[in-house]
Amino acid sequence: MPRTKTIFPPVLPELCAVVMAAGQGTRMRSDLVKVLHPMGGLPMVGHVLDLCARLGVKRTLTVIGHQAERVREALATYSVEFILQQDQRGTAHAVLQTEAALQGFQGDVLVINGDVPLLTDALAETLLHTHRKAGAQATLITTMLDNPAGYGRVLRDRRGSFKGIVEEVEATAAQRRVKEINSGIYCFNARRLFAALHQVRPSAVKGELYLPEVLPILGKAGGRIATVLADDPREVLGINTRAELAEAYGILRLRVVNRLMEAGVTCVDPATTYVSVLAAVGRDTVIYPHVQVEGRTEIGEGCTIHSGCRIRESRLGNRVTVLDGCVIRESEIADEAVLGPYAHLRPECRIRRKAKVGNFVEVKKSVIGEGSKVPHLTYVGDSTVGERVNIGAGTITCNYDGFGKFQTVIEDEAFIGSNTSLVAPVRIGRGAIVAAGSTITQEVAPDALAFGRAQQVNKEGRAAAIRAARAKK
Ligand code: UD1
Ligand code: CA
Repeated sequence: MPRTKTIFPPVLPELCAVVMAAGQGTRMRSDLVKVLHPMGGLPMVGHVLDLCARLGVKRTLTVIGHQAERVREALATYSVEFILQQDQRGTAHAVLQTEAALQGFQGDVLVINGDVPLLTDALAETLLHTHRKAGAQATLITTMLDNPAGYGRVLRDRRGSFKGIVEEVEATAAQRRVKEINSGIYCFNARRLFAALHQVRPSAVKGELYLPEVLPILGKAGGRIATVLADDPREVLGINTRAELAEAYGILRLRVVNRLMEAGVTCVDPATTYVSVLAAVGRDTVIYPHVQVEGRTEIGEGCTIHSGCRIRESRLGNRVTVLDGCVIRESEIADEAVLGPYAHLRPECRIRRKAKVGNFVEVKKSVIGEGSKVPHLTYVGDSTVGERVNIGAGTITCNYDGFGKFQTVIEDEAFIGSNTSLVAPVRIGRGAIVAAGSTITQEVAPDALAFGRAQQVNKEGRAAAIRAARAKK
């Protein structure tokens, strides 16, 4: 007889999330509240909030306290509700602040520390599944650590049944040797949770209200407490210090790089490839060592990004070449453009198809038209450069007179000789030629030739005469 698969459960209970983000994070020794420390392109807690969204929770309540306004601002783009925890009296106290908001809610609550950014969808789903399958009042994720220092230890009876959690500061020497730790990631039945939270008493050493204390309370009231053992402790790494932040980022970074490689991107040296979780890179793009791709940058297909480049919040089309040492910020680069080496694109540049911005060129808030070339040692600011323009080495758009910024327009097919100063506002007409070394302060008409430099004077034989005079002295 074929085995029939049991479909479980027919109707899933509703799910809300509570993310704890009110603590200062003293161990970071920072002026910035811990959960806002950036990691892989997001504030640390952003990873937790994104996970909640992917799990499809009905509401995410974020408990804030330290630097509440700053946290609200930093998380403004997330669809979460903020709950203020005025004084931070511990994690149980933090969750208690959500009681009014969750009044009448009958489903499950996923409770997550704001400082566990590496939790994966799969592990969170296992937590929910285990919780529901076991019909538990509470389920928590634990893991085994060779060095469990800093974490709450899991206490079990001789038969291995869960008894409770003891925080390190409160633990005996024997308890400290326990390697199974609490991850700070839980699922609770909402109604039971709040009833039990009211019974939590301040801890002996620190006088805080510890969330894990609700577990034995729920257990004693006859509820089942289930645990999920995470095989990979890296998924539940809690960040308390800068060293842990760096360690967690290292893990996250490799996840991102591996995802890129699976999608067809060549990362020549995964160990030194830094790509934000928000970035997208197309297939057959090659990323050389020591490249940073930040924010919501999009890089198309078949691009080559050479070593030492930083690209942030920018869009690159297909088959773009970025040679070594470029900085590209908030700009758009079209297909087959070539940048660098050592080009600096400041915000709001549009580099059109097949354009070339070469070495030691700085471009700001400007358009470089299709097929145009700015090959070396140039500053182009507040400018619109047309198509097939050539700008010689050492050219400067003088866009600033000490008071205001002014525009330079260079029309299609114009040729700007080397070492030219274009004093804005100024326009160079289509097909015009500007002689090398010119200082241009007036409009140049289309197809005109402009000289803006002193006339050259040659004196026949004068050099020899000078040398002869000197020799006599
Ligand atoms: C906590 C757990 C510990 C577990 C570890 C896993 C408690 C008492 N201990 O310890 O068992 O092994 O996480 O990483 O829960 N927070 C608030 N309000 C407060 C206090 C904390 O919102 O009043 C927030 C913090 O901002 C942080 C989270 O709760 O995001 C955890 O607090 P933290 O102080 O880091 O707890 P741990 O000592 O790491
Ligand atoms: Ca922590």
